Amino acid sequence: MAEQITREDALTREGYRHACHIMLYGDSSAKLFGKIPIKHIVLMQMRFDGLLGFPGGLVNPSEETLEAGLSRELHEEVGVAVPVGVDNHVSSCLSPSCPRLITHFYIKKMTESELKEMEKAAVATATDHGLEVKTLSVISRVCKCTYKILLCIFLICLQVLGMVRVPLYFLKNGGGLPYFLSHSFISNSRAQLLSALQRCGLLSQGELEKAVRQAEQMRR
Ligand code: GTP
Ligand code: MN
Ligand code: MN
Ligand code: MN
Ligand code: MN
Ligand code: MN
Repeated sequence: MAEQITREDALTREGYRHACHIMLYGDSSAKLFGKIPIKHIVLMQMRFDGLLGFPGGLVNPSEETLEAGLSRELHEEVGVAVPVGVDNHVSSCLSPSCPRLITHFYIKKMTESELKEMEKAAVATATDHGLEVKTLSVISRVCKCTYKILLCIFLICLQVLGMVRVPLYFLKNGGGLPYFLSHSFISNSRAQLLSALQRCGLLSQGELEKAVRQAEQMRR
């Protein structure tokens, strides 16, 4: 369990870096296969390193507020500079995986159409990705460096492979949320997801425990 501190305390500490990430979510009237109500849309992302995490990133509080920095990261990673305020802040903690890093977590509720617009904007960014891959082969021919090296550099710069929706339902044999939870997550983002789902009342305590239990059995 990561050590929790307040936002104010975090900002007075010297020699720490700060990272801000956010769970964007909302209610949905859509149905999976036209019959299973998905009820809520919860967005995470597939990072360049193959881990799941929330959109957001490093913020330097001497240059911008935590919330303005998070908004900037959303613009870079999702294509929309979603406004974020102090009222969206839910927790700050000393990173369990990274020394001298404080991770701040935010939650913001949006409308279904806003979320769908964001998903589209994120795909538009991915279209740039496709274009740039073509440019890469040209650069690699001109500069005589290997395409693979350029692609690695590019993927590290790219950071995000795509937005993903968190399945909040249960299908047969662990399908849905249990399978989702059995993937690998960056830092403590899996714990952030679970506590946010509970805090926002998107799933009951019993449902969350069931999902965690089933995910645990899968990993064995
Ligand atoms: P750069 O452009 O390389 O600076 O990346 P970034 O600013 O987008 O940073 P990134 O999103 O990778 O977050 C910075 C650090 O925060 C990571 O190295 C992780 O240790 C941590 N981190 C990333 N995503 C999450 C998340 O969803 N939750 C938590 N708690 N930590 C995260
Ligand atoms: Mn980023
Ligand atoms: Mn990021
Ligand atoms: Mn960044
Ligand atoms: Mn960056
Ligand atoms: Mn509900």
